[in-house]
Amino acid sequence: MSQKPRLLVTIPLPPKPRKTLQNIDSIEVVHWPEGEVKTSENMAKHVQGCSGILCSVGDKITSEVLDAAGEALKVVSTVSVGYEHIDLTACKNRGIQVGYTPDVLTDATADTTATLTMMATRGISDAIASVKDGRWGKPRAALPLGMQLPGKIIGFLGLGRIGYATALRLRAFGASQFIYHNRGTSRFADDLGARRVEFPQLLAQSDVLIITASLTSESRHLFRKETLAQMKSHAVLVNTARGGFIHQEDLAEALSQGIIGAAGLDVTDPEPIDPSHPLVHLPNCTILPHIGSATLETRNAMGDLALENVLNGMDGKALSTPL
Ligand code: DGY
Repeated sequence: MSQKPRLLVTIPLPPKPRKTLQNIDSIEVVHWPEGEVKTSENMAKHVQGCSGILCSVGDKITSEVLDAAGEALKVVSTVSVGYEHIDLTACKNRGIQVGYTPDVLTDATADTTATLTMMATRGISDAIASVKDGRWGKPRAALPLGMQLPGKIIGFLGLGRIGYATALRLRAFGASQFIYHNRGTSRFADDLGARRVEFPQLLAQSDVLIITASLTSESRHLFRKETLAQMKSHAVLVNTARGGFIHQEDLAEALSQGIIGAAGLDVTDPEPIDPSHPLVHLPNCTILPHIGSATLETRNAMGDLALENVLNGMDGKALSTPL
């Protein structure tokens, strides 16, 4: 049996960190078998005896997984800024370090959020569909008119790094009035001239409401029938954070009944969303397959940082970006 420390890699790595890892022969790398379902039983099987886990948001790192790994496990490193898939308390109780990848994905995710905002406010996905399905030019099939950002109130649930970088991009489209709801005050508020409001005011005042916050048990289904009903009837809801913020059946109803105007989602719950879900077929709902950070440059940077974290942790060193 190999005496080398073992590293479980649960995801296909981007090219740069993959190459780095190929050149390291002081550790044994256990790659998740291609196509194998990520059940807790399978996770427990592969993690046995590992000193490090390199994973991402689709991997549930529970206390059972940590127990299955055994005493050798020193570090869990996720290739993501979100970390709700990791039981941090269980890691802490066992002295296991946890790393994540903040900052390096801010720009790519803000690009996606701003793009999705523009797509949703201008009805771009339905406009593209109308060209493909022959509605273009048929008078009765005229597309609804879109909305521009000058003079509109852009609300952020969670004005952190990604929200701020999104607001800067939307300024180029004429957005100038920003409000936000954070637990405390945002360090980015002054630069944007953004006003902090309570959640009911965020719902009532936003013409465009963008979710760029971390999901917690309290914020699960924050957007449901009762709260959606408090939004403006032309409001556009954009979510690039986590699907769990939104009760999807309630959103589908709100969009089809004109309770709100449109939605743009890069995240759903579960992922992938069932293709037969009503949201997928609504003309005023744009759904992307969780591509927030999906550029070659950013995924390489995230992979590099996560690999650095896991190697440091396996070596008993401090992580560059610990949780
Ligand atoms: C993150 O980093 O949390 C992203 O949502 C994963 O793509």
